[in-house]
Amino acid sequence: MKPSILVVGSTNTDMVIKAEHLPSPGETVLGGSFFMNPGGKGANQAVAAQRLGGKVTFISKTGNDIFGSQSLQLFKEEGLNIDYMVSDVVNPSGIALITIDKKGENCIVVASGANARLLPNDLRIAIKAICNASIVLMQLEIPLETVNFISALAKSNGVNVILNPAPACELPITILKNISIITPNRKEAEMISGIKITDITTILQAAVAIRKKGVESVIITLGSEGAFVCTGQIKEIIKAPKVTPVDTTGAGDVFNGALAVAITENRSLKDAVTFASHAAALSVSKFGALSSAPFRKDVDTFFECRSKEETR
Ligand code: RIB
Repeated sequence: MKPSILVVGSTNTDMVIKAEHLPSPGETVLGGSFFMNPGGKGANQAVAAQRLGGKVTFISKTGNDIFGSQSLQLFKEEGLNIDYMVSDVVNPSGIALITIDKKGENCIVVASGANARLLPNDLRIAIKAICNASIVLMQLEIPLETVNFISALAKSNGVNVILNPAPACELPITILKNISIITPNRKEAEMISGIKITDITTILQAAVAIRKKGVESVIITLGSEGAFVCTGQIKEIIKAPKVTPVDTTGAGDVFNGALAVAITENRSLKDAVTFASHAAALSVSKFGALSSAPFRKDVDTFFECRSKEETR
């Protein structure tokens, strides 16, 4: 039987406009085409993990509206187990307004709606699923009290938790001590460690400081430069494959979904990060967040091609 990955997090509908550049305060930029895609960090990570070969249960809260029902329909089509999904009759589904510039960089504003109301009480029916999961994967687009509740429950039942601390916020020690792997980007690592990151020395200092707060393994994602892995034994950068970016939205989510899959396949942490970097690189070469998540065969083929090129 395949190990089960439990993802708890947000579901949004992404409203995306491509533009020449990202607007400055007060500026109106006439953009190009408009797209409406399913998204949200939780949903993106759950779908990525499922497409990459995981057996995923996804817990999220959506509003009783067209956006919520479209998302649920998509989750079913992707094959996610959505038995513990929660419906909010008061608040609307989450919405993200996204602008993407010509280099593929983005800026995002989220109206959390129902995501902000996913509370520990909603998870009472899922206690067994949390305790029996092979791994739990969370982000920070849901309330911290919920992240705290799940990580404490998982830890006390011997279930490892991966936390992708996005969007950036300060995290209490009570949560950090229950996390086995944390995957901040530079900004998030600065916020959690209190150390300004400017170079490799400060990346190392930030990672070590986060480990001191109780997290076993710290992986600081560095975009196209790769990821810095810091455990008791390892302190090194795993380089990312070079690709031409079209849209970086959701690349971090694909990285985290892939990481969870590789960990449940008992790969070493370095191998898991290499796999996750390849999956994320493939996703930035396509448009969209959730829709750009690659399938397993694509990542395996990409990895084989690159390995052959390197040995030439
Ligand atoms: O990480 C990308 C995601 O962040 C988007 O899909 C958007 O919904 C926001 O949550």
